Amino acid sequence: MEQHFIKPPVEIKYAEELSALKQNDTARKPENWYLSPKAVRTFILGSKSPIEYNGKTIEIKKKFFGNDALVERCIITLAGSRGLMLVGEPGTAKTMLSELLSAAISGTSTNTVQGTAGTTEDMIKYSWNYALLLAKGPVKEALVPSPLYVGMSKGIITRFEEITRTPAEIQDSLISVMSDKVLNIPELDDGGLLFAKPGFNIIGTANIRDKGVNEMSSALKRRFNFETVNPVKDVKLEKKIIMNEVEQNALANKIEMPIDVDVAELIAVTYHELREGVSETGIKIDKPSAVMSTAEAVSVYYQTLSNAWYYDEDKINLADLVKNLSNAVCKDTKDDAEKLKAYFNTVVKFKAEKFGGIWKEFYSVRDNAR
Ligand SMILES: Nc1ncnc2c1ncn2[C@@H]1O[C@H](COP(=O)(O)OP(=O)(O)OP(=O)(O)O)[C@@H](O)[C@H]1O
Ligand SMILES: [Mg+2]
Repeated sequence: MEQHFIKPPVEIKYAEELSALKQNDTARKPENWYLSPKAVRTFILGSKSPIEYNGKTIEIKKKFFGNDALVERCIITLAGSRGLMLVGEPGTAKTMLSELLSAAISGTSTNTVQGTAGTTEDMIKYSWNYALLLAKGPVKEALVPSPLYVGMSKGIITRFEEITRTPAEIQDSLISVMSDKVLNIPELDDGGLLFAKPGFNIIGTANIRDKGVNEMSSALKRRFNFETVNPVKDVKLEKKIIMNEVEQNALANKIEMPIDVDVAELIAVTYHELREGVSETGIKIDKPSAVMSTAEAVSVYYQTLSNAWYYDEDKINLADLVKNLSNAVCKDTKDDAEKLKAYFNTVVKFKAEKFGGIWKEFYSVRDNAR
């Protein structure tokens, strides 16, 4: 029976694409990698033409948009001995990219440490099963491996999400692992050294709005190649991402509604203008302090779509869209609500008069913004 998950891991979601790439992969490959760097690139950036697989052809879709060169650099970093650190604004697909890279390189994206203020050294290195520890002493059997331990022993990638949310002194337990590729387990009798197998590496993600990358020690920073992931600059591309994502979310939740191109464009343009602080027609806008990420734009559309599906006989309701937008924008400060209102009263008003259509309708329901 086919299993259905809310969010299947990348290696399950794209299982067919990964197998097809593997079957056709003849390029050079670092030891223990599932796919070659060339095939990893194709998996993330898409293939020019469909590829043959078990008597049929499969299209490899582009999954990460906006910076192909960055993806290539990430793959090359991972083939070397330094870790990869993806930093940037929230919602710029850092997590998504790290999952895609891990799945294509190691065949799994779930070997992950989630960094929080409460992350301890045990969670990064290893801990003990106390029942076994009491019964048998500090033997390997009693050791509970961490994702880092698993990465080193199997030669696969360990993802470290939101690494800067973890206290700096805890992060620093990675330093020796990163430089010497060995983990010390002094409790074990047999020397207790775990040497990393080829294929092991770390992908960290860090959000520059959170506690700041500056909190990382310079010793640890030096062991990573940093790549900054920026928000998508091109409105058309952002619209495409929004449409793709909303469509996939709808499919996963069995909402059978088509995605409206005009609504997607309206949301993409609104997010783009508020983020950049200037409209397409050159009107200056006071930027809200809230995060205006593509991921937020996707969720505003998806929520409106969901509302239409369950309450409004499949009709997208722009008043509801304005409410969702306003809830998304106005969560940090009161000023943001004023800024959003000002946006409606200048930019949206201008577009309503100039272009009419959906912009006019958008302007007419502006009072739904709080
Ligand atoms: N350049 C992009 N290409 C493709 N999808 C994108 C891009 N930028 C944003 N997205 C969309 O945004 C979603 C959010 O991404 P993700 O959760 O990976 O962001 P993040 O950078 O890890 O955010 P956070 O810092 O909040 O953890 C992605 O699943 C994708 O739908
Ligand atoms: Mg993330």
